[in-house]
Amino acid sequence: MSEENRKTLEVYERTASTYLANTKKHDELDPEKAYQKSMNLKVFLGKTFSPLREHAKIFEIGSADGVTAKHLERIGFDVTASDVAEDFIKTIAETGVKVIKFNALTDEFPDKYDGILAWRVLVHFTPEDFEKLLGKVYDALEPYGRFAFNMMNREVREVDNEWVDFPGEYYMGEDRFYCYYREEDVRAIIAKTKFRIIDFHKEGGKHFDKWLVFVLEK
Ligand SMILES: C[S@@+](CC[C@H](N)C(=O)[O-])C[C@H]1O[C@@H](n2cnc3c(N)ncnc32)[C@H](O)[C@@H]1O
Repeated sequence: MSEENRKTLEVYERTASTYLANTKKHDELDPEKAYQKSMNLKVFLGKTFSPLREHAKIFEIGSADGVTAKHLERIGFDVTASDVAEDFIKTIAETGVKVIKFNALTDEFPDKYDGILAWRVLVHFTPEDFEKLLGKVYDALEPYGRFAFNMMNREVREVDNEWVDFPGEYYMGEDRFYCYYREEDVRAIIAKTKFRIIDFHKEGGKHFDKWLVFVLEK
């Protein structure tokens, strides 16, 4: 586990409640945009995980407020949510979704899953963290299991990585480590594994290229 990820998790541990409050405020500023984003994610999750067996077991890494995990449960999946920060875990538990404390880089997955999701989580992973995670996720998936994740696109950023906080409504009070990836670099790391890329697209931002979205199959 990199120092960058470890220190970022310490920031989340201290600021999770601010993160939760500010995410809500951010959504309230532009409800139409927030609704559209949430609909896009729901469509993507349906398309990605519904080909799996009925009541498929889905594990979410870094669930934060638990909203995505709750949605997956509502549409019929057997969901395990997770996070590292205590305030996130409490908030997720209040939604009624099964939740565990889980560091994706240092803890062992407690079971095998049909699907694993890491949404806006790998932004805090160095390439070495990402490579390590891929190995762990591969081992934790059932045959033909799927891993869906997104990363921020390096092509639309000025630097490879940075420690940042966001002004305005996303303000957390402390910098977190963000790592940006080029599509070809992500593909090169995936090529070292036995995963098959079954879906890829870019989305978000003014030019629909802020995020790289991958779905891998075991
Ligand atoms: C930007 S938030 C995204 C939260 C949520 N998935 C969403 O889309 O709203 C990043 C999340 O990644 C989690 N995270 C970062 N490093 C992690 C690690 N090594 N293991 C598990 N979770 C991690 C943080 O605790 C935080 O919940």
